[in-house]
Amino acid sequence: ARKIIIDTDPGQDDAVAILLALASPELEVLGITCVAGNVPLALTQLNARKVCELAGRSDLPVFAGCERPIERALVTAEYVHGKTGLDGIALPDPQMPLAPGHAVDFLIETLRTEPAGSVTLCPLGPLTNIAMAFQRAPEIVERVAEIVLMGGAYFEVGNVTPAAEFNIYVDPQAADIVMKSGAQIAMMPLDVTHQALTTRARIEAFRALGTRAGHAVASWTDFYERFDMAKYGSDGAPLHDPCVIAYLLEPGLFSGRHVNVEIETGSELTMGMTVVDWWRVTDRPANAMVMGAVDAEGFYALLTERIARL
Ligand code: BDR
Ligand code: CA
Repeated sequence: ARKIIIDTDPGQDDAVAILLALASPELEVLGITCVAGNVPLALTQLNARKVCELAGRSDLPVFAGCERPIERALVTAEYVHGKTGLDGIALPDPQMPLAPGHAVDFLIETLRTEPAGSVTLCPLGPLTNIAMAFQRAPEIVERVAEIVLMGGAYFEVGNVTPAAEFNIYVDPQAADIVMKSGAQIAMMPLDVTHQALTTRARIEAFRALGTRAGHAVASWTDFYERFDMAKYGSDGAPLHDPCVIAYLLEPGLFSGRHVNVEIETGSELTMGMTVVDWWRVTDRPANAMVMGAVDAEGFYALLTERIARL
């Protein structure tokens, strides 16, 4: 099985991504590292533990990480995810404790001790934990197999400002460090996730599973959809973060280009913008596989089949 660490700020779509990973025997989740993002750290680490218990995985180490971005003040998104970050269904308070130690130390230690090139990082929130680990222990960068992250946008531009996607906007300094790190990167921008919409039929398919996990996924996507439908008037809400895990399971569902991506860290107006050289109009070297399309039917078929296993 492919070893992964999920770095996350749950978040309903983060929660679905975690469930997808835990339901998939092709992946071995070494641990979950939490970061401040959709809601403050105290809630993201609590939510991550609730989701592990929902999946019957109270044995998984869940670490709390950075409480705030590297330079900027924390910006959260309760207006999308609700006060708890995981509104839509009330899950019991977790029995499992937080794992001792800091998420950044866990990232560094794991990358140092696991064989080089064997651990894939899956960031689903602001990149603060990953960037801090790379800054403190630069020698781990070349030991990372791949970073598959949800963040950024190019044709679809922004969802939190007109120019920027939330995960990158919240900690642009961290995103800049990661994009410049030299690690192999695959990026799932809004351009992809806005094709993976939670239609009525797809939400009902989760509910029809008749399981606790199916019910939770239906309730979360239902809650989340209300916000996005009002905002975008589409057929449903984009289910962002599970695209990262789906890519590890079935890369053929996605297509993209290996191109240069730079992060805006100077201008307030376009702060956190991902400047993607999609048409290769510069000679800046490619540093990321940027996805542009997803087979949405195939994605939801995979997701539903996996959630059914829990
Ligand atoms: C990203 O921001 C968060 O609200 C979601 O969990 C996702 O990771 C989408 O912009
Ligand atoms: Ca997220």
